[in-house]
Amino acid sequence: MTIKEVGKMEKLIVEGGVPLDGEVEISGAKNAALPLITATLLCAGRYRLKNVPDLRDTRTMLRLMEHLGITCERDGKDLEIDTTNLNSAEAPYELVKTMRASVLVLGPLLARTGVARISLPGGCAIGARPINYHLSGFEQLGVKCSLENGYIEAKAENRLKGNVVYFDMPSVTATENLLMAATLARGTTIIKNAAKEPEIGNLIDMLTLMGADIEGKNTDLLTVHGRDNLTSCEVEIIPDRIEAGTYLIGIAATGGQGGVKNCIPEHLPSLIEKMRGAGILVEVQDRAIMVDARECCKKGFKEVDITTMPYPGYPTDLQAQFMALMTLANGVSVIHETIFENRFMHVAELQRMGASISIDGRRAMISGKGLKGLTGAPVMATDLRASSSLVIAGLAASGMTEIARIYHLERGYESMVEKLAGLGADIARVRPDSS
Ligand code: EPU
Repeated sequence: MTIKEVGKMEKLIVEGGVPLDGEVEISGAKNAALPLITATLLCAGRYRLKNVPDLRDTRTMLRLMEHLGITCERDGKDLEIDTTNLNSAEAPYELVKTMRASVLVLGPLLARTGVARISLPGGCAIGARPINYHLSGFEQLGVKCSLENGYIEAKAENRLKGNVVYFDMPSVTATENLLMAATLARGTTIIKNAAKEPEIGNLIDMLTLMGADIEGKNTDLLTVHGRDNLTSCEVEIIPDRIEAGTYLIGIAATGGQGGVKNCIPEHLPSLIEKMRGAGILVEVQDRAIMVDARECCKKGFKEVDITTMPYPGYPTDLQAQFMALMTLANGVSVIHETIFENRFMHVAELQRMGASISIDGRRAMISGKGLKGLTGAPVMATDLRASSSLVIAGLAASGMTEIARIYHLERGYESMVEKLAGLGADIARVRPDSS
């Protein structure tokens, strides 16, 4: 992208200092929709996926599916997918470089056809992010993987064969890929130290509807008894817990009152505890979470430390947003990022808004400056979650914040500007003069 092109891209303008008030409807989860879309590759047929968010990432995934010969049609919030005419097994560089989750086609393609070719994803804005767990897992199931001209060539001479797969660290997409591959393998596959994120539970539910035999949902030990055939199905995507958490932190950071509807509160245990620790009132309802931070406008937020961990620990995908909140706290908090080695790109931008943050390796020390700690500034989004932390900071700051490169936000937040405006935020998307 050239400087001229960047200059012409849309920006967000936020006039801060307005307490947010009201309720937001949560969309389907990006990180559940992506693996569930690729799971349709396992078996030829017509599928209906309900509550699929319309995001840049889901659109990229549909482009990849179309590249493979698959027909995808949107019907409101639902997707109709027909995987009968699969005619390619290649995930090209252009698509993988814009979305690493493209790697999720590997497992189903290997299970159905025994071959797959995918551009090796490089590093990204939050770290190196290798795919060695995916590849060594597939090798355990009898796949040979080699690197040719930047592409992973994966091939199985015979039907995949069940085996024991152990991950050194729980990996969300590696667990999903191996689960999908194992459903059609001969014999039993045991995945040890599997990730337990709710999005994996959603995938297990879909695979079970398709006829797969999987034990151990919501645990780190998954057992898959391979089947000869699967069938197509209709399935609903779970609500996006990260989107829900982002709005809850946003409402609180402005000293507002309100909440999120159509979410699953049990999916956010650690955030709820941390928000309560900061002095925010949190009320958990059946399918909603309400927060009230009006008292915090008088007393300020208490400082809270967080350590990101695999689920049910505090999610790395809500780390940047919580940091924005902690810049407004009364004292010093420490945020320890244990999942990704480079996920502090938002720090330099928050500093431009007046935040006092120092980094020591994977730890950030935030010296909260109280409720008036942030002032509006021009800032730049660097990745999806970093961008949403800048939006939160802009909403809580005094004055105007201009956020550039908002295409990052569009990867993972459906109608964010409209949803925030519905809460009373003074926010607009603007396209600079194209002259
Ligand atoms: N890892 C390896 N080798 C592998 C795979 C993972 O070393 O082969 C390491 C990673 O480098 C990282 C750790 O294992 O240190 C865990 O990463 P994981 O594999 O779980 O991440 P992911 O599956 O690539 C998903 C989400 C991310 C989210 C992480 C962690 C999807 C499509 N993406 O990524 O979402 O941050 O899990 O929860 O599900 C986002 O939505 O903004 C996002 C980045």
